[in-house]
Amino acid sequence: MKNTQIIMSQVMLPHQANVAGNVHGGEIMKFMDTAAGAVAVRYARSNCVTARVDELEFHLPIFVGALVTCTATVVFVGKTSMEVFVNVEVEDLESTNGPQKALSAYFTMVSMGRNGRPQHVPEFIPESEEEKRLHEEAKERRARKASRQTR
Ligand SMILES: CC(C)(COP(=O)(O)OP(=O)(O)OC[C@H]1O[C@@H](n2cnc3c(N)ncnc32)[C@H](O)[C@@H]1OP(=O)(O)O)[C@@H](O)C(=O)NCCC(=O)NCCS
Repeated sequence: MKNTQIIMSQVMLPHQANVAGNVHGGEIMKFMDTAAGAVAVRYARSNCVTARVDELEFHLPIFVGALVTCTATVVFVGKTSMEVFVNVEVEDLESTNGPQKALSAYFTMVSMGRNGRPQHVPEFIPESEEEKRLHEEAKERRARKASRQTR
């Protein structure tokens, strides 16, 4: 597997449920953050911190017993930061429906040096058509964010 992607799966257990019996959204957000952190650390080969989360959108509820799979992909690299797209699929293992998209978000992860300051990460060169598309989208998002901040 390329060092720009990590896939992690977990079966949801009763201790991850909220009072209504569904899986707590915070549990899934933590799982997404873990996946984003893992791929960032592997890409940068350094400790990384989460600086920002964008466009977190829940599409489906998740229930105890479901298999949740997080796919975290580095889609853009700045000087010291990486944007990681995390897509979450949920599968009811007792049904033949297969995995369905449950939520997604963009995590900005910053590589930290041993001095506790941000440090440079390797250049990112998108190769596949999918990587190129995600990279172009990330550049546009970054430009939109920058223009909002200067207004
Ligand atoms: C993230 C952090 C290291 C940035 O520190 P800083 O002094 O602002 O560092 P810089 O200005 O050099 O920015 C470093 C990079 O982070 C990016 N960045 C910083 N804050 C950001 C934000 N809020 N959103 C998006 N990117 C951000 C910068 O654009 C820069 O990217 P680049 O080098 O690729 O251009 C600092 O804010 C921090 O430690 N935050 C807490 C992180 C943390 O503990 N997370 C876990 C919470 S439990």
